[in-house]
Amino acid sequence: MKIISDVNELKTYLRKKNKTIGFVPTMGALHDGHLSLIKQSKKECELTVVSIFVNPTQFLADEDLDKYPSRDEADKKICKFAGVDVVFLPQVKDIYGADEVSLAAPNVRGFVLEGATRPGHFDGVLTVVNKLLNIVNPDFAYFGKKDAQQLNLITLMAKQLFMDVQIVAVDTVRESDGLALSSRNIYLSKEQRKEALKISLSLYEASRMVQKDVYDVAMIKEAMLEILKPLEIGYVEILNREFEIVESVEIGNTIVLVEALVGTTRLLDNIWL
Ligand code: PAF
Repeated sequence: MKIISDVNELKTYLRKKNKTIGFVPTMGALHDGHLSLIKQSKKECELTVVSIFVNPTQFLADEDLDKYPSRDEADKKICKFAGVDVVFLPQVKDIYGADEVSLAAPNVRGFVLEGATRPGHFDGVLTVVNKLLNIVNPDFAYFGKKDAQQLNLITLMAKQLFMDVQIVAVDTVRESDGLALSSRNIYLSKEQRKEALKISLSLYEASRMVQKDVYDVAMIKEAMLEILKPLEIGYVEILNREFEIVESVEIGNTIVLVEALVGTTRLLDNIWL
């Protein structure tokens, strides 16, 4: 496994290989969710590149950039074990200059849900993903469905900027009790972890109601909010796959999304119906 920090070295190395490239961008603190992205890339591509870069521009001033878990050595071992071909591990100075061209999230989809409470977050995500895709120039890039809004915006960006990459959506990986894997789960105490289960339980309830032919969004949201009590809710939304508000669930075209604060940790989860 090659570990490369320099942008030009990586570009030259990958160009010479002339292979189908699968790319998994990450901010490190790798867990089984990342491994499933890597696994899918390995299945579909000749060469898998993982980037580990805690992108400062997607954190707001009062967010957890400073305490975001950094585990480069463990992450490298995990990548090696998973059969990754190249780990790209740049420094902030390799990715950002002093006076940056900016890329902004779209006005509608970029400013609902996460975009509403974290203004500027998606500008940072799109900016860094655009840069990383330009550096790696992959055939396929893998993103988790857990960050559904991020996935939606990146797919839109790739289409609208006419990028030669296929964005692949990969299913959320969960603990056996339902908790969606996230690098932020390590902040949870034992008690908070139990409380956090209300998030997946509320999503399962939404799915159960739809299976029982309840499609009314208001009714489903009400039932979910009841389960989520007393967590502090960022949002509970039921949208179509284009991230538009709907009044009724359409099977095959709906995402149910929750953001909740557990202790001081913001957790996201969703289910695709
Ligand atoms: O999902 C993440 O880990 C990050 O938002 C990403 C896509 C690696 C960009 O920094």
